[in-house]
Amino acid sequence: MGKKWNWGIIAPGKIAEKFASDLKLVDEVNLYAVASRSLEKAQAFANKFDAEIAYGSYEELAKDTNVDIVYIASPHTFHYEHSLLCLRNGKHVLCEKPMAISSSKIKKLMEVALEKKVFLMEALWTKFIPSFRKCYELVQEGQIGEIKYIQSNFCFMAEYDTNKRLFNKELGGGSLLDIGIYPVFFAMELAGKPDDILASAVIGKTGVDENCNVVFTYKKKGISASLSSSFLVNAPSEALIAGTKGHIRMYSKWHEPTSLEAVIDGQIHHYAFDEPGFGYQYEIEEVIKCLNRGDLQSAEFPLFKSLRLHETLDYIRQQIGLEY
Ligand SMILES: NC(=O)c1ccc[n+]([C@@H]2O[C@H](COP(=O)([O-])OP(=O)(O)OC[C@H]3O[C@@H](n4cnc5c(N)ncnc54)[C@H](OP(=O)(O)O)[C@@H]3O)[C@@H](O)[C@H]2O)c1
Repeated sequence: MGKKWNWGIIAPGKIAEKFASDLKLVDEVNLYAVASRSLEKAQAFANKFDAEIAYGSYEELAKDTNVDIVYIASPHTFHYEHSLLCLRNGKHVLCEKPMAISSSKIKKLMEVALEKKVFLMEALWTKFIPSFRKCYELVQEGQIGEIKYIQSNFCFMAEYDTNKRLFNKELGGGSLLDIGIYPVFFAMELAGKPDDILASAVIGKTGVDENCNVVFTYKKKGISASLSSSFLVNAPSEALIAGTKGHIRMYSKWHEPTSLEAVIDGQIHHYAFDEPGFGYQYEIEEVIKCLNRGDLQSAEFPLFKSLRLHETLDYIRQQIGLEY
């Protein structure tokens, strides 16, 4: 076994709990430190997940020379500031999605990571989940022919609590950046940057999008994509990729799939993956693989893809009139 990489976690909220639990499933990993705005909360998290050190400020963790890599799990609007803090202190960074709330900030983070020669990746975990990898592979192999149509939605009935981040504009609330990012990412992974984007949204009382619909058109490739997100409905989140020879369906919740169904030339194929944990271990394994090799970005989800994704999200936000 190689070196054990010392992880630090910044902002121990809901997702950080799942991430810390999945860290235990990966070799060559040590949960070394956790930092919260409250020392007491950091201590409770450290006890629960066996972290060696608890800090009452993010700065202390960023300055700890024993920390190799930091996972950032604060609300969207702080991702840029917290990533910058860690990168400038020479730490490798895995930052939750969206890595920043504008593409210009993503560009800045990329520059600093390059200058400091440290690893940086946006935690778009779906990319590394085995069944998503299978779906991507089937498409790349041309099993369903040429893709012509993509449909993907992500929705749930969110609790209307303006103190929490989902409806809170100050914390980067809204469905597009929270969950709509997945369908947009999905279409772009499969078909690249669209030629045309049409977006419309329902903006709620707090000024953030609660329902958002996006249509991508790829004129040269002849592809249409219909993508949506919502905090207002109790409905399944599914994806369909349709091609000239067949189609692939990913059932709810498609962004964390454990199975998929492909219909190729009229034959149905089922693929199922027995996943332990929550599914975050696969992105963690990708990070470890990169760190062991000395790669400063993931070849599977390189930074130019994050930049391209966020340029597209910026454009969608312009169309729906959502500014942070
Ligand atoms: N990949 C996924 O599947 C997934 C799933 C859910 C969320 N996420 C992403 O993870 C991020 C966090 O989401 P979450 O649901 O875990 O949020 P959360 O439960 O609200 O936790 C966020 C944490 O950020 C810290 N924080 C720092 N400044 C804050 C402020 N001004 N207001 C509130 N919290 C603040 C808090 O920790 P301390 O006070 O302890 O420092 C809080 O516990 C979001 O950007 C989201 O997009 C990803």
